[in-house]
Amino acid sequence: MVKLNQVVITGATGFIGKNLRKYLSKNNVKLISISRRDFKPLKNEIKIISKNFDEKNIISKIQNSDALIHLIGIGKQSVEIDYNSINVELTKKIVNLCENAKIKKIVYLSGLGVSSNTSLGYFISKYKAERSIINSGLNFTIFRPSYIIGKDDYLTKLLKKQIKNNQLQIPGPGNYLIQPIYIDDVVKVIFESIMRIEFQNKILDLVGPETVTFEQYVKLFSKKTKTSIQKINLEDSYYNAINKIKSDYGVDDLNILIGNFKGNHQKLTKISQIKFQSVLELLESGRLF
Ligand SMILES: NC(=O)c1ccc[n+]([C@@H]2O[C@H](COP(=O)([O-])OP(=O)(O)OC[C@H]3O[C@@H](n4cnc5c(N)ncnc54)[C@H](OP(=O)(O)O)[C@@H]3O)[C@@H](O)[C@H]2O)c1
Repeated sequence: MVKLNQVVITGATGFIGKNLRKYLSKNNVKLISISRRDFKPLKNEIKIISKNFDEKNIISKIQNSDALIHLIGIGKQSVEIDYNSINVELTKKIVNLCENAKIKKIVYLSGLGVSSNTSLGYFISKYKAERSIINSGLNFTIFRPSYIIGKDDYLTKLLKKQIKNNQLQIPGPGNYLIQPIYIDDVVKVIFESIMRIEFQNKILDLVGPETVTFEQYVKLFSKKTKTSIQKINLEDSYYNAINKIKSDYGVDDLNILIGNFKGNHQKLTKISQIKFQSVLELLESGRLF
């Protein structure tokens, strides 16, 4: 068990960032949280506002922290911002920052389905980010998450919005599998990964105890609302993703769903010793609403 002095978090105001900061702050971990925009710091937290990590004084502010948790990432591209600049190049910059600030441990959230055999641009960018971390010689833990579920994750917010509009939509047949994991478990695992030596230099799937088809998931989510569910032909779903910038599912959201990725939950349980929440039970209980 490592004695923690201070932890740095990038992507501090994102979904995982917000939940993780709350959990670590409650557990009396000193935080230095970095975001592009202003936010209210928690107990034991120092904030840094930075757009591109170019400020010279960042190193002196974060140096000798015990770990950096890198939560910056994008899953949709545009002409302004692409996978290479954020997922690959910014990760390289963060790795350099760790080296210059003498931070020995980095935790990174990659994606379930990432591998050296992938042909998907999104996964290639995450794979390259993983390699730059592994090749740096820093002590690392890389997680490859499936859908991380809470009250305010992307999928939950999307399904709530569709329920409000009285029409749930499933791209294609909905028979592809997901392996959702609860955010409260994710923040615990990340905490463990910076505390315990068993996580050192490991790549772990960050997946929940159950695999479930997307259709089952949506049905369970909306059970109490009796909202009708419409299956959208896959070709139409891709057409919308390609042509409408604000479509509910982006091209890579669809690719990931159709990819049908499953992970090794047992390995995660064995190493973390955590008893994981069943996301299906959570849905049944209505606690995500
Ligand atoms: N949530 C999931 O189910 C899931 C599944 C697989 C992988 N992941 C990975 O886990 C990490 C965190 O996910 P999340 O759900 O917390 O995502 P999120 O809510 O979208 O947060 C990502 C954060 O990245 C930062 N960011 C985004 N674009 C940026 C840019 N152009 N320049 C600088 N910073 C930028 C932002 O931080 P600030 O606004 O604070 O600057 C943003 O809040 C990501 O790498 C994601 O790919 C998540």
